[in-house]
Amino acid sequence: MLGKNNTRDVSALFAEDERRGLNFSLLEHGWLLDYSRLPLTADGYRGLQALAAASGLDSAVRRLFGGEIVNPSEHRPALHMALRAEDPSAFPGADPDRVLAIDRSRFLDLAEDFHSGRSGLSDLVHIGIGGSDLGPRLVADALDVDDGAARVHWLSTVDARRMGRLLRDLDPDTTGVVIASKSFSTEETLLQAQALKAWLGDRFTAQAWAATAKPESAKAFGVSGDHILGFPEWTGGRFSLWSSVGVSAAARLGRDCYTDLLRGAAEADACFAGDARDRSLALHVAVLMHFLRRDLDAPSLGVVAYDPRLALLGDFLQQLVMESLGKGVDLDDAILTQSTSPLIFGGRGTDLQHSIFQALHQAPDSHPLILVGALEPGHDRPDWHRVQLAHMLAQATAMARGRHDDQASRLLPGNRPVMMLMAERLNARSLGFLLASFEHAVFALSVLWKINPFDQWGVEEGKRLAADFKTALQEHEPLDFETWLELSDRGMRS
Ligand code: F6P
Repeated sequence: MLGKNNTRDVSALFAEDERRGLNFSLLEHGWLLDYSRLPLTADGYRGLQALAAASGLDSAVRRLFGGEIVNPSEHRPALHMALRAEDPSAFPGADPDRVLAIDRSRFLDLAEDFHSGRSGLSDLVHIGIGGSDLGPRLVADALDVDDGAARVHWLSTVDARRMGRLLRDLDPDTTGVVIASKSFSTEETLLQAQALKAWLGDRFTAQAWAATAKPESAKAFGVSGDHILGFPEWTGGRFSLWSSVGVSAAARLGRDCYTDLLRGAAEADACFAGDARDRSLALHVAVLMHFLRRDLDAPSLGVVAYDPRLALLGDFLQQLVMESLGKGVDLDDAILTQSTSPLIFGGRGTDLQHSIFQALHQAPDSHPLILVGALEPGHDRPDWHRVQLAHMLAQATAMARGRHDDQASRLLPGNRPVMMLMAERLNARSLGFLLASFEHAVFALSVLWKINPFDQWGVEEGKRLAADFKTALQEHEPLDFETWLELSDRGMRS
Protein backbone atom coordinates (compact mmCIF):
# COMPACT_ATOMS: atom_id res chain seq x y z
CA MET A 1 0.00 0.00 0.00
CA LEU A 2 1.42 3.37 -0.98
CA GLY A 3 0.45 6.82 0.23
CA LYS A 4 -2.91 8.38 -0.41
CA ASN A 5 -2.16 10.18 -3.68
CA ASN A 6 0.23 7.78 -5.32
CA THR A 7 -1.66 6.50 -8.28
CA ARG A 8 1.18 6.24 -10.80
CA ASP A 9 3.05 3.07 -11.60
CA VAL A 10 6.73 3.98 -12.00
CA SER A 11 7.48 1.24 -14.54
CA ALA A 12 4.66 2.61 -16.70
CA LEU A 13 6.15 6.11 -16.44
CA PHE A 14 9.48 4.73 -17.67
CA ALA A 15 7.70 2.98 -20.56
CA GLU A 16 6.03 6.26 -21.58
CA ASP A 17 9.26 8.29 -21.61
CA GLU A 18 12.48 6.92 -23.09
CA ARG A 19 14.44 9.78 -21.59
CA ARG A 20 12.84 9.64 -18.13
CA GLY A 21 16.23 9.26 -16.40
CA LEU A 22 17.48 12.44 -18.05
CA ASN A 23 14.23 14.34 -17.74
CA PHE A 24 13.83 13.59 -14.06
CA SER A 25 17.34 14.31 -12.87
CA LEU A 26 19.42 17.34 -12.02
CA LEU A 27 23.15 17.95 -12.21
CA GLU A 28 24.55 20.75 -10.05
CA HIS A 29 28.08 21.37 -8.78
CA GLY A 30 29.16 17.76 -9.18
CA TRP A 31 26.01 16.21 -7.69
CA LEU A 32 23.50 14.22 -9.70
CA LEU A 33 20.02 13.90 -8.23
CA ASP A 34 17.99 11.19 -9.96
CA TYR A 35 14.31 11.33 -9.01
CA SER A 36 13.04 9.38 -12.00
CA ARG A 37 11.88 6.50 -9.77
CA LEU A 38 9.37 8.68 -7.91
CA PRO A 39 5.76 8.36 -9.06
CA LEU A 40 5.85 11.84 -10.54
CA THR A 41 4.80 13.17 -13.95
CA ALA A 42 6.19 16.24 -15.72
CA ASP A 43 2.96 18.09 -14.92
CA GLY A 44 3.19 16.96 -11.31
CA TYR A 45 6.73 18.29 -11.08
CA ARG A 46 5.75 21.63 -12.64
CA GLY A 47 2.94 21.85 -10.09
CA LEU A 48 5.44 21.41 -7.26
CA GLN A 49 7.66 24.17 -8.64
CA ALA A 50 4.66 26.47 -9.02
CA LEU A 51 3.72 25.76 -5.41
CA ALA A 52 7.22 26.74 -4.27
CA ALA A 53 7.12 29.92 -6.36
CA ALA A 54 3.73 30.89 -4.93
CA SER A 55 4.86 30.24 -1.35
CA GLY A 56 6.69 33.55 -1.01
CA LEU A 57 10.09 31.87 -1.20
CA ASP A 58 11.73 34.79 -3.05
CA SER A 59 11.01 37.26 -0.29
CA ALA A 60 11.75 34.69 2.44
CA VAL A 61 15.21 34.07 0.95
CA ARG A 62 15.80 37.82 0.74
CA ARG A 63 14.89 38.15 4.41
CA LEU A 64 17.11 35.21 5.40
CA PHE A 65 20.18 36.49 3.55
CA GLY A 66 19.36 40.09 4.52
CA GLY A 67 19.77 39.30 8.22
CA GLU A 68 16.13 39.92 9.13
CA ILE A 69 14.41 38.18 12.05
CA VAL A 70 13.51 34.79 10.56
CA ASN A 71 13.36 33.09 13.95
CA PRO A 72 10.49 35.02 15.55
CA SER A 73 10.11 32.91 18.70
CA GLU A 74 13.71 33.69 19.65
CA HIS A 75 13.71 37.07 17.91
CA ARG A 76 16.86 36.29 15.91
CA PRO A 77 18.16 36.28 12.36
CA ALA A 78 19.81 33.07 11.08
CA LEU A 79 23.04 34.12 9.44
CA HIS A 80 25.03 30.87 9.39
CA MET A 81 25.76 31.59 5.69
CA ALA A 82 27.99 34.48 6.84
CA LEU A 83 30.18 31.99 8.74
CA ARG A 84 31.23 30.35 5.48
CA ALA A 85 31.16 33.41 3.22
CA GLU A 86 34.39 34.65 1.71
CA ASP A 87 33.11 38.16 2.41
CA PRO A 88 30.76 38.22 5.43
CA SER A 89 30.21 41.97 4.97
CA ALA A 90 27.66 41.00 2.32
CA PHE A 91 25.41 39.90 5.22
CA PRO A 92 23.81 42.84 7.02
CA GLY A 93 24.16 42.41 10.77
CA ALA A 94 26.89 39.78 10.60
CA ASP A 95 29.79 41.94 11.92
CA PRO A 96 32.39 40.88 9.32
CA ASP A 97 35.40 41.85 11.43
CA ARG A 98 34.32 39.47 14.13
CA VAL A 99 33.14 36.60 11.89
CA LEU A 100 36.16 36.52 9.61
CA ALA A 101 39.11 38.13 11.30
CA ILE A 102 38.43 36.92 14.82
CA ASP A 103 36.21 33.84 15.09
CA ARG A 104 37.04 32.04 11.83
CA SER A 105 40.76 32.68 11.68
CA ARG A 106 41.24 31.83 15.38
CA PHE A 107 39.60 28.42 15.16
CA LEU A 108 41.23 27.55 11.85
CA ASP A 109 44.69 28.61 13.13
CA LEU A 110 44.24 26.47 16.22
CA ALA A 111 42.98 23.53 14.15
CA GLU A 112 46.07 23.77 11.95
CA ASP A 113 48.26 23.67 15.07
CA PHE A 114 46.61 20.38 16.08
CA HIS A 115 46.69 19.01 12.53
CA SER A 116 50.35 19.79 11.90
CA GLY A 117 51.53 18.57 15.31
CA ARG A 118 52.70 22.08 16.32
CA SER A 119 50.45 21.93 19.40
CA GLY A 120 52.40 18.94 20.72
CA LEU A 121 49.11 17.16 21.50
CA SER A 122 48.58 13.61 20.27
CA ASP A 123 44.85 13.41 21.07
CA LEU A 124 41.86 15.71 21.25
CA VAL A 125 38.62 14.83 23.04
CA HIS A 126 35.65 16.66 21.50
CA ILE A 127 32.68 16.89 23.88
CA GLY A 128 29.39 18.06 22.38
CA ILE A 129 25.93 16.81 21.50
CA GLY A 130 23.31 17.48 18.80
CA GLY A 131 24.57 20.21 16.49
CA SER A 132 27.77 20.44 18.53
CA ASP A 133 28.58 16.86 17.50
CA LEU A 134 26.75 15.57 14.42
CA GLY A 135 28.05 17.93 11.73
CA PRO A 136 31.72 17.96 12.78
CA ARG A 137 31.74 14.18 13.30
CA LEU A 138 30.17 13.53 9.89
CA VAL A 139 32.64 15.81 8.15
CA ALA A 140 35.67 14.37 9.96
CA ASP A 141 34.52 10.81 9.25
CA ALA A 142 33.83 11.51 5.59
CA LEU A 143 37.00 13.41 4.73
CA ASP A 144 39.69 12.04 7.05
CA VAL A 145 42.69 10.82 5.06
CA ASP A 146 44.72 10.06 8.18
CA ASP A 147 47.30 12.78 7.78
CA GLY A 148 46.49 14.71 10.95
CA ALA A 149 48.92 14.64 13.87
CA ALA A 150 46.21 14.60 16.56
CA ARG A 151 43.59 11.86 16.86
CA VAL A 152 40.08 13.07 17.70
CA HIS A 153 37.69 11.23 20.05
CA TRP A 154 34.02 12.20 20.04
CA LEU A 155 31.91 12.15 23.19
CA SER A 156 28.20 12.99 23.05
CA THR A 157 25.80 11.11 25.36
CA VAL A 158 26.96 10.43 28.91
CA ASP A 159 28.53 6.99 28.70
CA ALA A 160 30.61 6.18 31.75
CA ARG A 161 32.02 2.95 30.28
CA ARG A 162 33.18 4.69 27.12
CA MET A 163 34.71 7.55 29.10
CA GLY A 164 36.47 5.05 31.38
CA ARG A 165 37.95 3.12 28.45
CA LEU A 166 38.99 6.30 26.68
CA LEU A 167 40.75 7.80 29.66
CA ARG A 168 42.58 4.51 30.28
CA ASP A 169 44.02 4.75 26.76
CA LEU A 170 44.92 8.44 26.76
CA ASP A 171 47.87 10.28 28.25
CA PRO A 172 46.81 13.46 30.12
CA ASP A 173 50.12 15.11 29.23
CA THR A 174 49.37 15.00 25.52
CA THR A 175 45.57 15.17 25.41
CA GLY A 176 43.53 18.29 24.74
CA VAL A 177 39.81 18.80 25.20
CA VAL A 178 37.34 20.84 23.15
CA ILE A 179 34.05 21.62 24.92
CA ALA A 180 31.61 22.45 22.13
CA SER A 181 28.33 23.92 23.30
CA LYS A 182 26.52 26.94 21.95
CA SER A 183 24.66 27.46 25.23
CA PHE A 184 27.42 26.13 27.49
CA SER A 185 24.64 24.75 29.63
CA THR A 186 23.90 21.33 28.12
CA GLU A 187 23.95 18.79 30.92
CA GLU A 188 25.53 15.88 29.05
CA THR A 189 28.33 18.11 27.76
CA LEU A 190 29.09 19.79 31.07
CA LEU A 191 29.09 16.53 33.05
CA GLN A 192 31.69 15.05 30.76
CA ALA A 193 33.65 18.29 30.64
CA GLN A 194 33.81 18.17 34.47
CA ALA A 195 35.23 14.64 34.30
CA LEU A 196 37.87 15.70 31.78
CA LYS A 197 38.70 18.75 33.88
CA ALA A 198 39.30 16.57 36.92
CA TRP A 199 41.36 14.10 34.85
CA LEU A 200 43.54 16.85 33.36
CA GLY A 201 44.04 18.60 36.72
CA ASP A 202 46.44 21.56 36.43
CA ARG A 203 46.83 20.89 32.73
CA PHE A 204 43.20 21.98 32.08
CA THR A 205 44.05 25.69 31.64
CA ALA A 206 46.59 25.00 28.92
CA GLN A 207 44.90 22.02 27.27
CA ALA A 208 41.18 22.87 27.22
CA TRP A 209 39.29 24.99 24.66
CA ALA A 210 35.63 25.97 24.40
CA ALA A 211 33.63 26.58 21.21
CA THR A 212 30.63 28.55 22.39
CA ALA A 213 28.34 31.55 21.99
CA LYS A 214 28.49 32.04 25.78
CA PRO A 215 32.09 33.01 26.58
CA GLU A 216 31.23 34.15 30.11
CA SER A 217 29.86 30.72 31.02
CA ALA A 218 32.94 29.01 29.57
CA LYS A 219 35.17 31.31 31.61
CA ALA A 220 33.15 30.61 34.77
CA PHE A 221 33.65 26.89 34.10
CA GLY A 222 37.42 27.45 34.14
CA VAL A 223 38.33 27.67 30.46
CA SER A 224 41.09 30.20 29.99
CA GLY A 225 39.84 33.40 28.27
CA ASP A 226 42.26 33.10 25.35
CA HIS A 227 41.10 29.49 24.73
CA ILE A 228 37.49 30.49 24.12
CA LEU A 229 36.55 30.26 20.45
CA GLY A 230 33.39 32.29 20.06
CA PHE A 231 30.62 32.45 17.54
CA PRO A 232 27.57 34.69 17.27
CA GLU A 233 24.28 33.97 19.01
CA TRP A 234 22.45 33.96 15.66
CA THR A 235 24.15 30.65 14.78
CA GLY A 236 21.59 27.90 15.29
CA GLY A 237 22.99 24.80 17.04
CA ARG A 238 22.25 22.54 14.04
CA PHE A 239 23.89 25.12 11.75
CA SER A 240 27.04 25.50 13.85
CA LEU A 241 29.30 23.19 11.83
CA TRP A 242 30.50 26.32 10.03
CA SER A 243 31.57 28.02 13.27
CA SER A 244 34.31 27.21 15.80
CA VAL A 245 32.24 24.11 16.72
CA GLY A 246 34.05 22.63 13.70
CA VAL A 247 37.48 23.07 15.32
CA SER A 248 38.01 19.37 16.14
CA ALA A 249 36.96 18.25 12.66
CA ALA A 250 39.27 20.91 11.22
CA ALA A 251 42.03 19.59 13.50
CA ARG A 252 41.66 16.17 11.84
CA LEU A 253 41.39 17.55 8.32
CA GLY A 254 43.62 20.62 8.35
CA ARG A 255 42.91 24.26 7.63
CA ASP A 256 42.92 23.96 3.81
CA CYS A 257 40.46 21.11 3.78
CA TYR A 258 38.08 22.88 6.17
CA THR A 259 38.36 26.07 4.15
CA ASP A 260 37.30 24.07 1.09
CA LEU A 261 34.31 22.74 3.03
CA LEU A 262 33.26 26.32 3.83
CA ARG A 263 33.84 27.30 0.19
CA GLY A 264 31.62 24.47 -1.06
CA ALA A 265 28.87 25.53 1.34
CA ALA A 266 29.17 29.15 0.17
CA GLU A 267 28.69 27.92 -3.41
CA ALA A 268 25.41 26.34 -2.36
CA ASP A 269 24.40 29.67 -0.78
CA ALA A 270 25.07 31.44 -4.06
CA CYS A 271 22.98 28.89 -5.98
CA PHE A 272 20.08 29.17 -3.56
CA ALA A 273 20.15 32.96 -3.23
CA GLY A 274 20.70 33.55 -6.97
CA ASP A 275 18.43 33.70 -10.01
CA ALA A 276 18.83 30.00 -10.80
CA ARG A 277 17.18 28.77 -7.57
CA ASP A 278 14.66 26.75 -9.59
CA ARG A 279 17.53 24.64 -10.88
CA SER A 280 19.26 24.28 -7.51
CA LEU A 281 19.76 21.00 -5.70
CA ALA A 282 18.26 22.61 -2.58
CA LEU A 283 14.97 23.52 -4.22
CA HIS A 284 14.69 20.16 -5.95
CA VAL A 285 15.21 18.33 -2.65
CA ALA A 286 12.66 20.62 -0.97
CA VAL A 287 9.84 20.11 -3.44
CA LEU A 288 10.50 16.38 -3.65
CA MET A 289 10.41 16.07 0.14
CA HIS A 290 7.15 18.02 0.07
CA PHE A 291 5.79 15.60 -2.53
CA LEU A 292 6.76 12.58 -0.42
CA ARG A 293 5.40 13.99 2.83
CA ARG A 294 2.30 15.87 1.80
CA ASP A 295 1.25 14.21 -1.49
CA LEU A 296 2.29 10.62 -0.85
CA ASP A 297 1.70 10.90 2.92
CA ALA A 298 4.99 9.12 3.64
CA PRO A 299 5.79 9.34 7.36
CA SER A 300 9.53 8.69 7.02
CA LEU A 301 12.53 9.18 4.79
CA GLY A 302 15.65 7.00 4.83
CA VAL A 303 19.09 8.37 3.94
CA VAL A 304 21.11 5.36 2.88
CA ALA A 305 24.85 5.61 2.20
CA TYR A 306 26.37 3.51 -0.58
CA ASP A 307 29.66 5.21 0.10
CA PRO A 308 30.86 4.49 3.64
CA ARG A 309 32.26 8.01 3.85
CA LEU A 310 28.67 9.23 4.09
CA ALA A 311 27.61 6.76 6.77
CA LEU A 312 26.77 9.57 9.21
CA LEU A 313 24.80 11.71 6.75
CA GLY A 314 21.51 10.23 7.97
CA ASP A 315 22.34 11.13 11.59
CA PHE A 316 23.18 14.70 10.61
CA LEU A 317 20.01 15.09 8.54
CA GLN A 318 17.94 13.57 11.32
CA GLN A 319 18.61 16.58 13.53
CA LEU A 320 18.61 19.14 10.71
CA VAL A 321 15.26 18.03 9.31
CA MET A 322 13.45 16.92 12.45
CA GLU A 323 14.44 19.77 14.79
CA SER A 324 13.80 22.31 12.04
CA LEU A 325 10.58 20.98 10.54
CA GLY A 326 9.05 18.96 13.36
CA LYS A 327 6.68 21.71 14.45
CA GLY A 328 3.04 21.76 15.46
CA VAL A 329 2.16 25.41 14.82
CA ASP A 330 2.61 27.79 11.91
CA LEU A 331 4.24 31.22 11.98
CA ASP A 332 1.02 32.73 13.30
CA ASP A 333 0.92 30.18 16.13
CA ALA A 334 -2.07 28.41 14.54
CA ILE A 335 -2.16 24.63 15.06
CA LEU A 336 -1.02 22.82 11.92
CA THR A 337 -3.39 20.24 10.56
CA GLN A 338 -1.10 18.90 7.85
CA SER A 339 1.95 16.69 8.35
CA THR A 340 5.35 18.29 8.92
CA SER A 341 8.69 16.56 9.45
CA PRO A 342 9.12 12.98 8.29
CA LEU A 343 11.02 10.67 10.60
CA ILE A 344 14.52 10.56 9.18
CA PHE A 345 16.54 7.38 9.54
CA GLY A 346 19.78 6.35 7.94
CA GLY A 347 22.88 4.24 7.87
CA ARG A 348 25.17 2.28 5.56
CA GLY A 349 23.45 0.74 2.59
CA THR A 350 24.67 -2.79 2.56
CA ASP A 351 24.42 -3.03 6.37
CA LEU A 352 20.79 -1.91 6.20
CA GLN A 353 20.15 -4.46 3.44
CA HIS A 354 20.81 -7.12 6.05
CA SER A 355 18.58 -5.55 8.68
CA ILE A 356 15.69 -3.30 7.63
CA PHE A 357 15.45 -3.72 3.85
CA GLN A 358 13.29 -6.84 4.00
CA ALA A 359 10.49 -4.73 5.49
CA LEU A 360 11.16 -1.90 3.05
CA HIS A 361 10.73 -4.26 0.10
CA GLN A 362 7.69 -6.26 1.20
CA ALA A 363 5.90 -4.84 4.26
CA PRO A 364 2.67 -2.98 3.41
CA ASP A 365 3.94 0.46 4.52
CA SER A 366 6.15 2.36 2.16
CA HIS A 367 9.25 4.24 3.41
CA PRO A 368 10.86 6.49 0.79
CA LEU A 369 14.64 6.44 0.48
CA ILE A 370 17.46 8.63 -0.76
CA LEU A 371 20.39 6.42 -1.75
CA VAL A 372 23.68 8.35 -1.72
CA GLY A 373 26.94 7.39 -3.44
CA ALA A 374 29.95 8.69 -5.34
CA LEU A 375 31.37 7.90 -8.79
CA GLU A 376 35.01 7.83 -7.67
CA PRO A 377 35.94 5.56 -4.78
CA GLY A 378 38.40 7.72 -2.85
CA HIS A 379 40.46 4.57 -2.17
CA ASP A 380 42.49 2.03 -4.12
CA ARG A 381 40.11 -0.93 -4.09
CA PRO A 382 37.91 -0.30 -7.15
CA ASP A 383 36.33 -3.76 -6.88
CA TRP A 384 35.00 -2.92 -3.40
CA HIS A 385 33.60 0.34 -4.70
CA ARG A 386 31.93 -1.54 -7.56
CA VAL A 387 30.17 -3.74 -5.01
CA GLN A 388 28.73 -0.66 -3.27
CA LEU A 389 27.47 0.90 -6.50
CA ALA A 390 26.07 -2.37 -7.84
CA HIS A 391 24.05 -2.77 -4.65
CA MET A 392 22.89 0.82 -4.86
CA LEU A 393 21.55 0.33 -8.39
CA ALA A 394 20.10 -3.05 -7.48
CA GLN A 395 18.18 -1.68 -4.51
CA ALA A 396 16.92 1.35 -6.43
CA THR A 397 15.67 -1.03 -9.13
CA ALA A 398 14.10 -3.62 -6.85
CA MET A 399 12.36 -0.96 -4.75
CA ALA A 400 10.87 0.83 -7.74
CA ARG A 401 10.28 -2.01 -10.24
CA GLY A 402 9.37 -4.74 -7.80
CA ARG A 403 9.36 -8.42 -8.74
CA HIS A 404 6.57 -10.53 -10.17
CA ASP A 405 6.44 -14.09 -8.94
CA ASP A 406 3.79 -16.80 -8.87
CA GLN A 407 4.79 -17.55 -5.30
CA ALA A 408 3.28 -14.74 -3.22
CA SER A 409 6.05 -14.77 -0.59
CA ARG A 410 8.61 -13.97 -3.32
CA LEU A 411 6.68 -11.09 -4.79
CA LEU A 412 7.96 -7.53 -4.39
CA PRO A 413 5.22 -4.96 -5.00
CA GLY A 414 7.59 -2.22 -6.26
CA ASN A 415 6.62 1.44 -6.56
CA ARG A 416 8.59 2.16 -3.43
CA PRO A 417 9.67 5.83 -3.77
CA VAL A 418 13.45 5.98 -4.12
CA MET A 419 15.86 8.71 -5.25
CA MET A 420 19.57 8.51 -5.94
CA LEU A 421 22.09 11.21 -5.15
CA MET A 422 25.58 10.77 -6.64
CA ALA A 423 28.72 12.84 -6.19
CA GLU A 424 31.12 12.96 -9.09
CA ARG A 425 33.86 13.22 -6.48
CA LEU A 426 33.38 13.29 -2.73
CA ASN A 427 35.67 15.92 -1.23
CA ALA A 428 35.49 18.84 1.17
CA ARG A 429 34.04 21.15 -1.43
CA SER A 430 31.34 18.81 -2.68
CA LEU A 431 30.42 17.78 0.87
CA GLY A 432 30.12 21.43 1.95
CA PHE A 433 27.90 22.03 -1.06
CA LEU A 434 25.69 19.07 -0.18
CA LEU A 435 25.23 19.93 3.50
CA ALA A 436 24.44 23.58 2.82
CA SER A 437 22.04 22.54 0.04
CA PHE A 438 20.17 20.38 2.55
CA GLU A 439 20.06 23.32 4.97
CA HIS A 440 18.44 25.43 2.27
CA ALA A 441 16.08 22.62 1.29
CA VAL A 442 14.88 22.58 4.89
CA PHE A 443 14.47 26.36 4.85
CA ALA A 444 12.47 26.20 1.58
CA LEU A 445 10.23 23.51 3.09
CA SER A 446 9.66 25.68 6.15
CA VAL A 447 8.47 28.46 3.85
CA LEU A 448 6.16 26.06 2.00
CA TRP A 449 4.77 24.79 5.30
CA LYS A 450 4.79 28.27 6.97
CA ILE A 451 6.77 27.23 10.02
CA ASN A 452 9.77 28.53 11.97
CA PRO A 453 12.70 26.18 11.19
CA PHE A 454 15.10 27.86 13.61
CA ASP A 455 13.66 27.13 17.05
CA GLN A 456 13.24 23.80 18.94
CA TRP A 457 11.00 24.45 21.93
CA GLY A 458 9.81 20.84 21.95
CA VAL A 459 13.07 19.61 23.46
CA GLU A 460 12.95 22.01 26.42
CA GLU A 461 10.17 20.30 28.39
CA GLY A 462 12.14 17.05 28.58
CA LYS A 463 15.17 18.93 29.92
CA ARG A 464 13.03 20.63 32.60
CA LEU A 465 11.38 17.37 33.72
CA ALA A 466 14.72 15.55 33.79
CA ALA A 467 16.02 18.09 36.32
CA ASP A 468 13.05 17.31 38.65
CA PHE A 469 13.45 13.55 38.23
CA LYS A 470 17.19 13.80 38.90
CA THR A 471 16.51 15.31 42.32
CA ALA A 472 13.89 12.65 43.10
CA LEU A 473 16.23 9.85 41.99
CA GLN A 474 18.99 11.18 44.22
CA GLU A 475 16.67 10.93 47.22
CA HIS A 476 15.87 7.29 46.49
CA GLU A 477 19.21 5.58 46.13
CA PRO A 478 19.69 2.65 45.76
CA LEU A 479 16.74 2.25 43.41
CA ASP A 480 14.25 -0.60 43.52
CA PHE A 481 11.33 -1.39 41.18
CA GLU A 482 8.75 -0.17 43.68
CA THR A 483 10.35 3.29 43.85
CA TRP A 484 10.79 3.34 40.10
CA LEU A 485 7.06 2.74 39.56
CA GLU A 486 6.21 5.32 42.20
CA LEU A 487 8.34 7.99 40.52
CA SER A 488 6.90 7.14 37.13
CA ASP A 489 3.38 7.35 38.52
CA ARG A 490 4.13 10.64 40.28
CA GLY A 491 5.34 12.10 36.96
CA MET A 492 1.90 11.53 35.45
CA ARG A 493 0.01 13.05 38.38
CA SER A 494 2.07 16.14 39.32
O1 F6P B 1 18.63 19.28 21.10
C1 F6P B 1 18.50 20.61 21.49
C2 F6P B 1 19.76 21.37 21.25
O2 F6P B 1 19.54 22.65 21.74
C3 F6P B 1 20.22 21.39 19.79
O3 F6P B 1 19.56 22.31 19.02
C4 F6P B 1 21.69 21.65 19.96
O4 F6P B 1 22.39 21.36 18.80
C5 F6P B 1 22.00 20.73 21.12
O5 F6P B 1 20.88 20.84 21.97
C6 F6P B 1 23.26 21.05 21.88
O6 F6P B 1 23.23 22.35 22.41
P1 F6P B 1 24.52 23.11 22.86
O7 F6P B 1 25.39 23.28 21.67
O8 F6P B 1 24.04 24.42 23.41
O9 F6P B 1 25.20 22.28 23.92
